[in-house]
Amino acid sequence: MSKTVICPGSFDPVTLGHLDIITRASKMFDRVVVAVLVNSSKTPTFSTQERIELLNAAVGDLPNVEIVSFEGLLAEYCKTCGISTIVKGLRAVSDFEYEFQMAIANKKLNPGLETIFLTADADSTFLSSSMVREICSMGGDISNFVPACVHDRIVAKLRK
Ligand code: PNS
Repeated sequence: MSKTVICPGSFDPVTLGHLDIITRASKMFDRVVVAVLVNSSKTPTFSTQERIELLNAAVGDLPNVEIVSFEGLLAEYCKTCGISTIVKGLRAVSDFEYEFQMAIANKKLNPGLETIFLTADADSTFLSSSMVREICSMGGDISNFVPACVHDRIVAKLRK
């Protein structure tokens, strides 16, 4: 039976850490749905459309990965799509508590939903979208932190 998993996140913007988790998931499962959160209570730096475009460019060579956006509860979205497995990256112990809470809450909301964690690549353990935004907006070099094909677009937006 073919297995679809979901990689949810804010992706504001996509980093090499995200791409590492998505790429590894794409090798383990038949289909990976990367789901960009449309959060109406928080204004992201990159619009939903921009985040989707950056992700599409970043995963361009992965045929079994698709990018979507979702609003509301992830557990409900998974139910609607018939997806029963969430894949998330764990960077450090500091991620664990929050991710653990979300995994349990998601399972309470949708008992069929499992969460699988992949350990972040050693080079990505410190990396986050907020760090990329801060370093770049202050003139720092982010070429080691974001996919090369979207580097210039991210810089152009953050240094506006
Ligand atoms: O990249 P992020 O910001 O760590 O991703 C967090 C995300 C989008 C996976 C999480 O905030 C989420 O699933 N939000 C949707 C709303 C929801 O389901 N909230 C309850 C989670 S227990």
